[in-house]
Amino acid sequence: MTKVTAIVNQKGGVGKTTTALNLSYALSQEGKKVLLIDFDPQASLSVALGINGENIPNIQTLMMAEIEDKEVKEDYIVNINKNLDLIAGTLDMAATEGALVNVMSREMILKDAIEKIKEKYNYDYIIIDCLPSLGMLAVNALTACDSVLIPVTPEYLSAKGLALLTNSINKVKRRLNPNIKIDGILITMLNQRTNLSKEILENLNKTVDFIKEQFNLDIQIYNSRIPISVKTGEAILNKKSVIEYEPKNKVSQAYQDFAKEWVNF
Ligand SMILES: Nc1ncnc2c1ncn2[C@@H]1O[C@H](COP(=O)(O)OP(=O)(O)O)[C@@H](O)[C@H]1O
Ligand SMILES: [Mg+2]
Repeated sequence: MTKVTAIVNQKGGVGKTTTALNLSYALSQEGKKVLLIDFDPQASLSVALGINGENIPNIQTLMMAEIEDKEVKEDYIVNINKNLDLIAGTLDMAATEGALVNVMSREMILKDAIEKIKEKYNYDYIIIDCLPSLGMLAVNALTACDSVLIPVTPEYLSAKGLALLTNSINKVKRRLNPNIKIDGILITMLNQRTNLSKEILENLNKTVDFIKEQFNLDIQIYNSRIPISVKTGEAILNKKSVIEYEPKNKVSQAYQDFAKEWVNF
């Protein structure tokens, strides 16, 4: 059984791509077969892995083939490490959003593409690194996944933002993907010097309680929290996950702990 998880937050810069990369890397180290999908036209994940998606078969190739009812003959899977593969992102994906307008069942395009991947390959996990939006591409990701993981930074946690996001998830749940589950909220880029102040934590819990009640959804905040470290950006400049770049770093440890917590959740 392949578990498909979308990493979503309509806000940019909250750690989606970093979480997709490091969670996947940690899982692959535990011997799980993982496929990362770069589902952001900015293609930060592909860039972080040193892959230029522009001239190779990429996620846009799969989406367009699905829209045009064609078969993809080229190999679109890029091997990154043992147990870790990538489907690259591309700037062209921005055009897919437009191409979807007149397509029948346009919310299901990514889902159908992923179904074929599931049949053909034997992944334990498929992790979708989403774009910062709640538009049609994000709806495709929500429709294609079994579960959603929401990274938030303590500074940018807004009740309104989370409510908008959960509202979208809830709509998709009612109309397109009744079994979608919210895995939980992961706090990223936590400044440990100021620590997660009691006040922020109380606010966070209040927000989550409010949203649970309003949308009748089960959401939890993970115990693991990802601290801030400059090594995270440094690792990306070196085309690596932090875990590979500096395994003893606190961010690496935190993502490895988180991966264990997430798997057993
Ligand atoms: N734990 C962290 N510590 C320090 N910097 C981080 C951490 N996590 C992410 N970053 C940096 O913050 C920026 C935004 O992170 P990213 O994962 O790209 O967010 P998103 O995908 O949500 O836009 C990137 O420059 C990234 O290197
Ligand atoms: Mg990103």
